[in-house]
Amino acid sequence: MAQLRDGFQSRIGFVLAAAGAAVGLGNIWGFPTQAANHGGGAFLLVYFIVIFLLALPALYTELYLGHQAQSNPVNALRQAWQEKAPKVGAAAGYLGLSGAIVMLSFYSIVAGWMLAYSLEPISRAMGFEQINAFLQGDSTARNLIFTPLMLLLTASIILKGVKSGIEAWSRRLMPMLLLLLVALIAYIATLDGAAEGFSAYLKPDFAKITDPDLIIAAMGQAFFSLSLGVGCMMIYGSYLKPNENLPKLTFSVAALDTGVAFLAGLLIIPAVFVAQHNGVQVFQDGKLIGEGRLIFAVLPELFSSMGAIGLWVGLTFFVLMSIASLTSTISSTEIPVSFLVENHGLQRKTATWWVTVVIMVVATTIIFNFDWLFGLVITLFTQYQLPLMGLFYFITVGWMWKRGNQLRSESKGKHYWFAQYVRFVCPVLMSAVFLNVAVK
Ligand code: ALA
Repeated sequence: MAQLRDGFQSRIGFVLAAAGAAVGLGNIWGFPTQAANHGGGAFLLVYFIVIFLLALPALYTELYLGHQAQSNPVNALRQAWQEKAPKVGAAAGYLGLSGAIVMLSFYSIVAGWMLAYSLEPISRAMGFEQINAFLQGDSTARNLIFTPLMLLLTASIILKGVKSGIEAWSRRLMPMLLLLLVALIAYIATLDGAAEGFSAYLKPDFAKITDPDLIIAAMGQAFFSLSLGVGCMMIYGSYLKPNENLPKLTFSVAALDTGVAFLAGLLIIPAVFVAQHNGVQVFQDGKLIGEGRLIFAVLPELFSSMGAIGLWVGLTFFVLMSIASLTSTISSTEIPVSFLVENHGLQRKTATWWVTVVIMVVATTIIFNFDWLFGLVITLFTQYQLPLMGLFYFITVGWMWKRGNQLRSESKGKHYWFAQYVRFVCPVLMSAVFLNVAVK
């Protein structure tokens, strides 16, 4: 008799969990920044095209691999490569799994900053000046406290399993995230300067639409945002019941993720223009002020210029960011945990603690070598690992995997044209964009 495997109990539970994996700092921080720097509406337009032409098929391919295998990415890829070279498939599974650990290591550091900034308005309201300075100050000590805190929050959900942990918490956290996001947009929209932000965001600058930088940025953003290339979606697909309608669910996940990214733009870009209206410097050399400063300097400055209500707006914003981070960290943590449980017979509890310790070790290495290592791992991960793994999955489903692969049936069934698209068009598009990134 087949062993009973934990899994999603409802379609909405799966969609919220997979959208939770997808919706994260990439949507709320990355997407609006990229949009502001690449021609506003022009970026939006190209992003939607990239999502439709490339990211959606990639999401389907990854979910499909997991769904058919009903097992973790190492097993799923080994099975898919069974007839050609099972070791190559398994090796790709291990590569994805290592990528998930690396991604979690830098992601948990940033997520820890969000937690620290969530506590800051509370400590400010209580008049704890020193704690305040600590929470807002860049320091190794702060990273060494808040990164493990984020990992512990993640572990506490993973320990409960798929149905009672991941699904149950995604059902609570995702509606909360949407509510907070909409409430913030509604409030910021009432402030002076917001209208200028809406127009900058939504009006396309068509001169930028064919800029290769914009296309590469849109594609990197789409892959990171949908959590493609490390096996997050493969593992979530594997927890879906075998008879589920995968194309429909894939579409719902991508729509929710893209919708949240779009909404985040309606929050961040008007907020930036409100800050500018209030005298805060937000643009430098025509670009939005760099990287962390937008979230950790410009926006807090805006919140404190709002008086008493700013405290609540700041709190809401950073709680939103923390929730978005948490729903993403749980999905990546589940990959190595399920591998240790299924392939090495560990108890879920033991596997979760092992994985948490390993991520903490890698994160600590990054924390102590922050200046050169942090940016480097992010670049290697987003610009190389994600597109290369995406390409590998297309080749796997399109060319390598025959037995049991419904997309490879010889007759012109209902998936025929989609299968041809995955076989011929996706790898070419993917390679073209990757080569463009690599030679830059
Ligand atoms: N997909 C996650 C994000 O966008 C990792 O933050």
